[in-house]
Amino acid sequence: AKNVGILAVDIYFPPTCVQQEALEAHDGASKGKYTIGLGQDCMGFCTEVEDVISMSLTVVSSLLEKYNVDPKQIGRLEVGSETVIDKSKSIKTFLMQIFEKCGNTDIEGVDSTNACYGGTAALFNCVNWVESCSWDGRYGLVVCTDSAVYAEGPARPTGGAAAIAMLVGPDAPITFESKFRGSHMSHVYDFYKPNLASEYPVVDGKLSQTCYLMALDSCYKQFCAKYEKSTGKQFSISDAAYFVFHSPYNKLVQKSFARLVFDDSVRNASSIDEAAKEKLAPFSTLSGDESYQNRDLEKVSQQVAKPLYDAKVQPTTLIPKQVGNMYTASLYAAFVSLLHNKSSELAGKRVILFSYGSGSTATMFSLKLHEGQKPFSLSNIATVMNVSTKLKSRHEFSAVKFVETINLMEHRYGGKDFVTSKDCSLLAPGTYYLTEVDSMYRRFYAKK
Ligand code: ACO
Repeated sequence: AKNVGILAVDIYFPPTCVQQEALEAHDGASKGKYTIGLGQDCMGFCTEVEDVISMSLTVVSSLLEKYNVDPKQIGRLEVGSETVIDKSKSIKTFLMQIFEKCGNTDIEGVDSTNACYGGTAALFNCVNWVESCSWDGRYGLVVCTDSAVYAEGPARPTGGAAAIAMLVGPDAPITFESKFRGSHMSHVYDFYKPNLASEYPVVDGKLSQTCYLMALDSCYKQFCAKYEKSTGKQFSISDAAYFVFHSPYNKLVQKSFARLVFDDSVRNASSIDEAAKEKLAPFSTLSGDESYQNRDLEKVSQQVAKPLYDAKVQPTTLIPKQVGNMYTASLYAAFVSLLHNKSSELAGKRVILFSYGSGSTATMFSLKLHEGQKPFSLSNIATVMNVSTKLKSRHEFSAVKFVETINLMEHRYGGKDFVTSKDCSLLAPGTYYLTEVDSMYRRFYAKK
């Protein structure tokens, strides 16, 4: 198959959210810490009637319906998630309910897990399948879904929740430049979930930031090397129209792009003008380790990067700032933001994505965009996703009510033998919701 990539996309996030400003006041954090310090506006979260399974059911049925795809046409279904509901039974098997009904049980694929990277692993699997000799001519479908919740403390405002579905096949408007790909994988304890009785991770916040930036540098280096080997030209940030990052919180995205600008200046790349080069020169002799801790470098590089950030990154930040960290869905929610904001200007452009999952696993890869043909066209994708309406029709919870919700979910996690309130009044028509977990831990869902 040729020009394999993403044909269609849909996104779902819960209609319930809390303003970061309200959370700041509630938590007794200094004013501006979450909004300016972390760069976040609002945070979405699941109430007791939603979870990663219901969100996935919602987004998959919505995608099939809105793009008019027959469920029999799906030959591979992969889910990326780090939200553990069952240690054996994959989320994918719950989604089979949609396909079994239509008589399609011939669908390969299971769940992929490694922190926020599982969605990228799932996406690569589907693309590789369509490109391989085991491809049977049908579509691949990728779902990235997570409910990111943290224990009380400094990480709590960096939660979020969403599910994103992506249809994969040939002749796509969003194709992979598969030759240009750089990965960095290593063993670190920056963020992990060793306590199986709790939904909350163990997280070393500062270490996770450094690990993220180190992985970014390393992936960029590999990426540039492969680009040069294949094209004979040096790669610089001028060679891509947009950069999309895994987005735990916006401040880290700002720092990441500034880091690429610094990397380009050290590499003496053409993207950096003389004035910027001069400003960054004093830092070029820092060792790798020193450079991650140097506050002046952070400040100067962000300042130098600002105009480029506004042009190449800012259009990708809308949903991550409004919904928060959606773990596996975060990178793709940033990409969705770009499709939403710039759909009419993207044809012919190259977009670079950086995926990071703690532990750690990371890949930088490249996409080439084409207008495509309806229903699989950039403009139709933007219309179908309907991001503005989804954001506008959310319901704001007070910080107190948010904490009450989180506490109830904490109590319910891993539990059995309960029925939910079945209150779906805040959910849009077509949304799936959890009704019951029986004495055998079997979960039941209904559709509004
Ligand atoms: N006004 C403006 N800015 C402020 C204010 C204020 N009143 N108060 C603090 N700030 C700034 C700080 O200077 C800092 O910015 P800087 O990094 O540019 O200096 C920022 O706000 C955050 O403040 P910190 O004191 O560094 O925050 P803290 O350590 O309490 O928590 C952290 C932040 C570590 C990100 C925490 O939320 C966390 O652990 N989150 C989860 C881990 C995470 O997301 N890691 C990212 C990669 S891994 C992954 O995706 C899960």
